[in-house]
Amino acid sequence: MSKYTEVKRVTTHVLKAMKNDGEKISMLTGYDYSMAKIIDDAGIDIILVGDSASNVMAGHETTLPITLDQMIYHASSVVRAVKRAFVVVDLPFGSYQGDPKAALRASIRIMKESGAHGVKLEGGIEIKDSIRRILTAGIPVMGHLGLTPQSIYKFGTYVVRAKEKEEAEQLEKDAKMLEEVGCFGVVLEKIPAKLAKGVAESVSIPVIGIGAGGDVDGQVLVVHDLLGITKEFQPRFLRRYLELYDDIKAAFQDYIKDVKSQDFPNRAVLVYEL
Ligand code: KIV
Repeated sequence: MSKYTEVKRVTTHVLKAMKNDGEKISMLTGYDYSMAKIIDDAGIDIILVGDSASNVMAGHETTLPITLDQMIYHASSVVRAVKRAFVVVDLPFGSYQGDPKAALRASIRIMKESGAHGVKLEGGIEIKDSIRRILTAGIPVMGHLGLTPQSIYKFGTYVVRAKEKEEAEQLEKDAKMLEEVGCFGVVLEKIPAKLAKGVAESVSIPVIGIGAGGDVDGQVLVVHDLLGITKEFQPRFLRRYLELYDDIKAAFQDYIKDVKSQDFPNRAVLVYEL
C-alpha cells in the first residue's frame, strides 16, 4: 500500500511529493454531492469540477455556455462531499481571458463561495498575466494545454493537438512558463505521448494527462465517460470501467414495468403501513 493512501488531505505539497516519488496522481471530474462523495471515498487524489459540466450535466454541445454562477453551484456541491481530495475548479470561458482583474475576481468568488482549493485555466502565454494575478491572492492555479475545449471554435475539431513542430514547441514553452510563474500543476489534453513525456520530465510540477499517454505524472477522466454514462463518446484513450448507461436504463425499465403491472409497490408493505 502506498504511503499516500494514509494522507488525510491532499494538498499542492502532497501532489508535488507524489511526482517526486513517482507516485501516479489520480484525478476525476465531479459535479455533484452524491458522486463526489463516492469518488472521494474511493481515494481519488484530485477532483476537478470541470467545465465539462456544460456537456455532461447541462447537455450543451461545448463547454462555452457554462457560467461562473453555475460552476460555483457545482463546486460547492462537490466541496460539501469531499474529505480527502484536492478540489480544483475550472474558470469558465469568458471569466479570465484578457482581463487579469476579472480573472482574480472570478477566482476569489470560486474560492469564497464554494470552498474549493484551487482553479484551472486553459491556455499558455496569452493568459500569463491572469495566472500571475490569481496567484498573488494565494490561490493555487493549474494550467491546461493541448486540446483546450474552450477554444474549440478556433481548432474546429477535437482531434489531437501539437502534432506539428511549431505547436509542440509552443506547448513546451507554455508548460515551462506555467511552472515558472508558480502553477501547482498542468493538464495536458490530447497531445502526442512523446511530447507529453518530454514535458513531464522537463518541469517540476505534476503533469496530468488525458489522451496524452502513460508517461506523465497522473491521469484524469470525465467521470461520466469512465462509468459508461456518455455512451456515444468513445475516444481511443478512454477506458470504461462500467456500462452504466445500459445498466441504469435497464433498472428504469424494470421499475416502469413493475409500476404498470402493479408489482410495485409491494402490497404487503402497503397493508402494513395502513
Ligand atoms: O472540464 C474538464 O472535464 C476538463 C478535463 C477534460 C481535463 O478540463
